[in-house]
Amino acid sequence: MSNLRLEELSARTIVAANSLTLRRGQEQFIVPISYSIADAYVDPSTTWARVIVDADQDDKVVGFVRGNFDPNHPKDEFKACVWRVNVDADEQGKGIGTFAVRALLAEARQRGFDRITAIWEYGDLGPGAFFTRCGFTQVGETEYGEAIGELAVA
Ligand SMILES: CC(C)(COP(=O)(O)OP(=O)(O)OC[C@H]1O[C@@H](n2cnc3c(N)ncnc32)[C@H](O)[C@@H]1OP(=O)(O)O)[C@@H](O)C(=O)NCCC(=O)NCCS
Repeated sequence: MSNLRLEELSARTIVAANSLTLRRGQEQFIVPISYSIADAYVDPSTTWARVIVDADQDDKVVGFVRGNFDPNHPKDEFKACVWRVNVDADEQGKGIGTFAVRALLAEARQRGFDRITAIWEYGDLGPGAFFTRCGFTQVGETEYGEAIGELAVA
């Protein structure tokens, strides 16, 4: 099992996070349209972003997770959400994505939220099965036809 931890963004880790690779066909799922549009209006102070590093691989950056925590956001699905999670192509399938979601869940708990949400696009190569495996239940759809999932902060 990997020896994972979160790190705040720094000059080193930002470059590494931007260099994370995807598996063929995953590009189209990385930023659902709802997030692309909402990004223009999001207050940077509500963004929470971390890289995931693996101490067993000389602190290699193996993933990236970004959340938004804004209790005043007009849309429920953006109040406490997984904005983005991605794991390097070579490191997928080892539990790193799950680690990232749990970390975001812990952050939400600490901030007093009782649930987190995620938005994803449907598709065989998309992250829907991953979010379901993490415990998200689909509760609706966005105006762009994407799934909205919810996970209770236990
Ligand atoms: C989605 C993603 C973050 C998952 O990360 P990961 O580290 O591979 O996920 P995990 O290893 O923690 O997988 C957890 C579970 O989900 C399942 N899972 C993960 N990706 C899956 C997929 N594409 N299809 C089906 N099941 C999947 C795993 O099999 C595992 O199930 P298990 O507990 O029964 O073994 C990763 O595939 C990725 O970076 N995708 C591209 C970017 C993206 O689409 N991000 C989401 C939108 S921002």
